[in-house]
Amino acid sequence: MPVIAIVGAGPGMGLAIARTFGKRGFDVALIARTKDKLDALVDQLGQEGITAAAFPADVMDGPSLTAALEAVTARFGGIDVLEYSPAPHSPVPGFTLAAPSEVTVENLQPQIEYNFYGAVTAARTVLPAMRKARAGTLLFTTGGGSIHPNPMLGNVNAAAAALRNWVLNLHNELAGSGVHAAHVAINTWIGEGGPEGIPAATPGQIAPLYWDLYQHRDQPEAVFNG
Ligand SMILES: NC(=O)c1ccc[n+]([C@@H]2O[C@H](COP(=O)([O-])OP(=O)(O)OC[C@H]3O[C@@H](n4cnc5c(N)ncnc54)[C@H](OP(=O)(O)O)[C@@H]3O)[C@@H](O)[C@H]2O)c1
Repeated sequence: MPVIAIVGAGPGMGLAIARTFGKRGFDVALIARTKDKLDALVDQLGQEGITAAAFPADVMDGPSLTAALEAVTARFGGIDVLEYSPAPHSPVPGFTLAAPSEVTVENLQPQIEYNFYGAVTAARTVLPAMRKARAGTLLFTTGGGSIHPNPMLGNVNAAAAALRNWVLNLHNELAGSGVHAAHVAINTWIGEGGPEGIPAATPGQIAPLYWDLYQHRDQPEAVFNG
């Protein structure tokens, strides 16, 4: 069975991506901080006939993320697709939103660690085996602000843009290697309860984009505009 490891797996995009790949024959490894929440997702997927397992880790803690991905390989025999999309659903100490002129090293650094360093750690953990196999897929998610920044999100958008730039360049570097890297920008609110006037979409509407990238293996980026 091929295996997808979803880093930052929650009830939104994480679950929808898990279903999308799981229904097409993948085993699913779910990585996030809270074991109980992961176990609930594993149960839910199990009831849908999808084999999934939980691997708790914090993307802000590189060694824990590396250890979780190594545990996925030990359990399932390898990782064919890595998908990175952590999202803080509750307030995180040190995380604030800052307009561009209000960005400081202090409020930017945690965003960089969260959006970018975690992604780099995850990719560097799985890439050697993918290169050796001359196969594999690396998918990284941000919001539309990584491309078209919004002044409300000066620090978040800068960190996401750094991730995007690196992924596009990783895509270039990996051309011909058999390994495909791509960035997904979700340019909508996800789910219900978003700000008025902002387009929204369900995770189930967005997730097929990831399957398309995985199948076609040639695009550096996909943008979901609703
Ligand atoms: N929500 C939106 O409207 C929106 C819009 C555009 C783009 N996006 C992007 O879409 C992606 C998915 O968002 P979603 O809300 O649908 O996600 P989701 O899959 O519902 O949940 C993401 C999970 O990330 C986990 N997480 C948070 N901090 C973490 C950390 N430090 N280490 C490891 N895991 C962590 C959380 O679980 P724990 O708390 O248990 O760790 C959470 O359940 C993200 O890349 C986000 O930036 C979201």
